[in-house]
Amino acid sequence: MKTIAIIAQKGGAGKTTVAVNLAVAAEAAGIKTALFDLDAQESATVWSDRRKAESPHIEFLTERRLPNAIKAAQHEGFALCIIDTPPAAGPQALTAAEAADLVLIPCRPSLVDLDAIRRTAQLVKSARVPAFVVFNAAPHGATTLLDDARAIVADTTGLSVAPATLRERSAFRAAWPLGKAVLETEPRSKAAKEISQLQNWVLAQLQVCTPDDVQDAKVMSHG
Ligand SMILES: Nc1ncnc2c1ncn2[C@@H]1O[C@H](COP(=O)(O)OP(=O)(O)OP(=O)(O)O)[C@@H](O)[C@H]1O
Ligand SMILES: [Mg+2]
Repeated sequence: MKTIAIIAQKGGAGKTTVAVNLAVAAEAAGIKTALFDLDAQESATVWSDRRKAESPHIEFLTERRLPNAIKAAQHEGFALCIIDTPPAAGPQALTAAEAADLVLIPCRPSLVDLDAIRRTAQLVKSARVPAFVVFNAAPHGATTLLDDARAIVADTTGLSVAPATLRERSAFRAAWPLGKAVLETEPRSKAAKEISQLQNWVLAQLQVCTPDDVQDAKVMSHG
């Protein structure tokens, strides 16, 4: 099982949006996924309460219980675990980072948000885990702004930015109150395409194969 922690000290950066959309995308690709919600606001848990579907498995936990919950998920055959955290560089974020194979730091490409990721970057460095900033809710176009933001991230934190960017898209807001992900409400939308790109990049980073990848590899090896 691979574990992704989603961390950002800044409130409203898009942690829970990224967490639930990636969890649904992974399940849709045949990857059994658990989402652990370490945020006392319980946004992901409330989102799942509105959901009719059983999967992905979503559970609220305190950080003290996280290591055991990860072990149990592994035992139960989960292939991916995603951890959503509160807007703070506190014990939940640190415990999640220490348990993770990969940390994603959602960040809006604005100066206020870019300033705020320094503490988050320090925290992930102390956890010694690979970490990438994911630009979220980026305005349309804005190529120069994203290039500048990427340079600021590199200068101030030494971190790299994931190649997949999520733009400001109403589909993300519209899916939320339904307890759904954009892949379910608007599967052909640009928002869904961006989530798929992010998911493919994340799975490649973690070297997680989907059942389709395994089938393709079998077909190729049998000529
Ligand atoms: N790419 C996007 N486009 C449009 N709206 C977005 C996008 N990402 C997030 N939002 C909206 O921004 C708000 C905050 O997002 P979200 O709850 O995911 O942030 P968060 O980092 O989890 O917040 P908190 O720090 O409070 O946990 C939500 O209303 C969400 O629907
Ligand atoms: Mg949240």
